[in-house]
Amino acid sequence: MEDDVLDTQPAPQASRGAFRSVRPTGVERTFSPDELIVSKTDPRGVITYANDVFLRVSGYTMDEVVGRPHNLIRHPEMPRAVFQLLWDTLAARRELFAYINNLAADGAHYWVLAHVTPSFGPNGTVIGYHSSRRKPSPRAVDKVRPLYKRLLAEERRHPHAKAAVAASSQLLADIIAEQGGSYEDLVWSIINREES
Ligand SMILES: Cc1cc2nc3c(=O)[nH]c(=O)nc-3n(C[C@H](O)[C@H](O)[C@H](O)COP(=O)(O)O)c2cc1C
Repeated sequence: MEDDVLDTQPAPQASRGAFRSVRPTGVERTFSPDELIVSKTDPRGVITYANDVFLRVSGYTMDEVVGRPHNLIRHPEMPRAVFQLLWDTLAARRELFAYINNLAADGAHYWVLAHVTPSFGPNGTVIGYHSSRRKPSPRAVDKVRPLYKRLLAEERRHPHAKAAVAASSQLLADIIAEQGGSYEDLVWSIINREES
């Protein structure tokens, strides 16, 4: 009897399981310029909160995202170097703006301009992280796409993840040095020129 009851239960969310096997369909999803996609994490990067816009655009439920890291929505064409920079910046207790291409549950992708920042407790310790993302302009995405393609191509030349991220981080540093500024300058030049 009890078995019958169990059999009629919907599949547990976890059985959607291999989230990372979501295949990109190439379909682009956008959201309104006056919306913000927001999430918060604990100090390990485990999601503790996602707003309605996050859930709608990513296609996941709150239960599916809370308790998981953000690589749930990682797009395979995002270069590792960008995430390395993100975590290095957060570890240095600083904020970061980054263009990120995310992968929704149904395989659609959506570009965001993310502002990621540590959250500090009363005694100055990092109690978590916070990201708010808005819709980037198509012109800005057009500027970022070839840069990320270059970084990804560099990563794909290296079979081991560690070597891949080292090589593409070096390439990113070289590109930034060529332009004579910092990563922040690079992103802000795109924001200032292409987001207005
Ligand atoms: C507050 C916060 C927000 C993040 N937002 C995203 C995001 O929108 N998309 C994403 O792919 N990674 C995001 N990350 C980075 C992920 O934690 C992870 O480093 C990245 O997806 C790469 O995953 P991988 O190391 O498994 O390849 C975020 C991290 C933090 C702390």
